[in-house]
Amino acid sequence: MKNKQIDRRNFMKGTALATGSVMMAGLPIGASAFVNPTEKKLKLALIGCGGRGTGAAVQALTADPKLQLIAMCDAFKDRLDNSLNNIKNSEHLAEDRKKNIKIKEGDKYIGFDGYKEAIKDADVVILATPPGFRPYHLEECINQGKHVFCEKPLGVDGTGIRKCLDLVKVAEEKKLNIVVGLQRHYQTKYREIIKRVNDGAIGDVVSGQVYWNGGGVWVRERKPEYTEMEYQMRNWYYFNWLCGDHIVEQHIHNIDVFNWAKDAYPVSAQGMGGRQVRTGKEYGEIFDHHYVEFKYADGSILNSQCRHIKGCKNDVSETLTGTKGTVDTRGNGSITDLSGKSIYKHRGKDDPDPYQVEHDELFASIRKGEVINNLEYGAMSTMTSILGRYATYSGLEVKMEDALASDIQLMPATNKWSDNPPIMPNGDGNYPIAVPGKSLVF
Ligand SMILES: NC(=O)c1ccc[n+]([C@@H]2O[C@H](COP(=O)([O-])OP(=O)(O)OC[C@H]3O[C@@H](n4cnc5c(N)ncnc54)[C@H](O)[C@@H]3O)[C@@H](O)[C@H]2O)c1
Repeated sequence: MKNKQIDRRNFMKGTALATGSVMMAGLPIGASAFVNPTEKKLKLALIGCGGRGTGAAVQALTADPKLQLIAMCDAFKDRLDNSLNNIKNSEHLAEDRKKNIKIKEGDKYIGFDGYKEAIKDADVVILATPPGFRPYHLEECINQGKHVFCEKPLGVDGTGIRKCLDLVKVAEEKKLNIVVGLQRHYQTKYREIIKRVNDGAIGDVVSGQVYWNGGGVWVRERKPEYTEMEYQMRNWYYFNWLCGDHIVEQHIHNIDVFNWAKDAYPVSAQGMGGRQVRTGKEYGEIFDHHYVEFKYADGSILNSQCRHIKGCKNDVSETLTGTKGTVDTRGNGSITDLSGKSIYKHRGKDDPDPYQVEHDELFASIRKGEVINNLEYGAMSTMTSILGRYATYSGLEVKMEDALASDIQLMPATNKWSDNPPIMPNGDGNYPIAVPGKSLVF
């Protein structure tokens, strides 16, 4: 099976040719490949001051004693102020690190374009806005020569992902560290299991089942004073130009595990999905369930389920089947041979918090002048999830190469508060929803 596999290196070669690495021209290579001796102060900017950005800032300040938080940016001032307050009062941040929070009023940047200024004086940037902005924020960081901790997903459409793929090489040339918040890659259980899988413990991986089935996430209420743009920006989870649907925003974690185990990306997908229960206006345009079969070049199949419906069986996990055994990541995680005999059981007792490990390894790498670059798998696992959405929205079998080459760009090139967002409600306040068999969405 291995011979027929499209492996990551070959896939990237093809992708670079297909997308054209236009970003390479004219960029000052090496301009930011600075070495950071341990005594040097490093400066941090946080872009996107919500729940995750706030947590990531605390983890970054914990990871490096000489890191100073010098700039923060959010679309909304109330979100930024709340985040700053939460960082200052975090019980997870040691008191001696709190003196490294250096934010004054002039260090707060508000609005769509604030990130460009906010990152200017920083060495390291945390990107934690909704994912629609990610390719464009990443591009600015890499052009300005910044190291990045970048939350997943890396975009919401093929256009954004092509940009991220073009940036892989640029970041490499500039020796920038780019850690992507797919934290299973920094979680001991997954590292131990996938290492064994990649070493052949279960033979060739021929199928997998991955799940993010749960009750759903927050809804942010519309207030009378909001414009449509402000409403969607606050309730971003339910609008694809910002979120990409929960198959992208959340289920990417599980889909990415299978890509990691296969060391490959799917060539096509087909599936089904819809809005069965969560049908109100406040849920915007996204589906409440998706089921997708992803097909890989060697014929192996990934079955993926994600659901946001309360009162059903909840499961967030991955199982893999190989020619010699199986993996189940539930609980502490285990590997079993085909006769049922245990090959490996992860202990898990003292495993470190993967969210902290991401930052520990990022700052250790910067300090040592080394490079971690997670951009490629971050971009391609995002693209795999987007491929899944294209398949469930259209009801068609969609090829990866077509999805990746698609010119659809959900995120507008520029945004202003006076603009209408790219999707608007109908007269009755409901949003247009994709209808399989009728919607051509890629
Ligand atoms: N790895 C994980 O386990 C994990 C967990 C939670 C969230 N995330 C990811 O982190 C990101 C943020 O999620 P969250 O839960 O923190 O959401 P959130 O809504 O709490 O925070 C997002 C913040 O970004 C701000 N924002 C929006 N557009 C902006 C722009 N253009 N410029 C500056 N700020 C902008 C919003 O106002 C908001 O305060 C998402 O991509 C999400 O998928 C990852």
